Amino acid sequence: MAEGKAGGVALVTGAGDPGGMGAAVARRFAKDGMAVGILDLNGGGAEAVAAEIRAAGGRAIGLAADVSDRAQVRAAVARLRTELGPVHVLVNNAAIEGWCAFEALTDEQWDAQMAVNLKGAFIATQEALPDMQAAGWGRIINISALGGQTGGVMDMTHYNASKGGMIAMTRSLAVGLGRQGITVNSVSPGFIDTPMARRAIEEDLFPMPWTDILAMYPIPRLGKAEDIAAACAFFASEEAGYITAQLLGVNGGATF
Ligand SMILES: NC(=O)c1ccc[n+]([C@@H]2O[C@H](COP(=O)([O-])OP(=O)(O)OC[C@H]3O[C@@H](n4cnc5c(N)ncnc54)[C@H](O)[C@@H]3O)[C@@H](O)[C@H]2O)c1
Repeated sequence: MAEGKAGGVALVTGAGDPGGMGAAVARRFAKDGMAVGILDLNGGGAEAVAAEIRAAGGRAIGLAADVSDRAQVRAAVARLRTELGPVHVLVNNAAIEGWCAFEALTDEQWDAQMAVNLKGAFIATQEALPDMQAAGWGRIINISALGGQTGGVMDMTHYNASKGGMIAMTRSLAVGLGRQGITVNSVSPGFIDTPMARRAIEEDLFPMPWTDILAMYPIPRLGKAEDIAAACAFFASEEAGYITAQLLGVNGGATF
């Protein structure tokens, strides 16, 4: 079984919703022996997920921060360092979804996607990186999206552009960090059963019935947050030390 750096410390952003991928990643990392910083805009949610992990015997703290705000992320990472230790593994998972016809997109909508999804990953990575460099060991995992690879469905140009940016950032960052013992990879989810996907289903935002989309997938069902956690656990593991600059689709074989 792949195990993360046993005894190491991980920071997972956007992990404050118990039904989201970030929380599933955090639970899995804790089970694999890591201490986990649960960072989220929703500080109460982050603390609740951390408390759940502690109740199950793991080590975790909740950190309230907006990933797009440098000072807040810096303070959160400093607290994590003080309370649990320096960061070895970072999962850039926090994101907001966006649906809007391209012609109607406002500057504000565009900027919000870039600020949270792409700049948030840039900020968190820059703030956690010195710890990994000092240790000569690190794992950075960026949660992108199938739509960032393929174009996805209509009306998500701004979201998909931010996710395509994360894929390029993954590869570009890996170039310089490989010789420092730090790998950078991306997990690209397809259609995963989380609060984000459920919001889109409930608001009927897809161009066709969502069940028809699923029916076209080689594995015709929604993915689970735990499927994403398993991929992150592998990239975080000792065994994945020669794997960097890669993109792993966890999408049931979907190609659109
Ligand atoms: N669910 C899917 O089908 C799907 C598909 C492709 C990619 N993804 C990606 O997977 C990741 C996880 O998605 P999810 O479905 O679990 O989403 P979610 O909406 O269920 O959870 C996202 C979490 O991020 C937090 N967050 C939002 N803005 C933040 C900010 N500025 N600072 C800190 N935290 C913030 C939210 O509070 C929430 O807890 C995201 O990067 C998303 O884009 C999801």
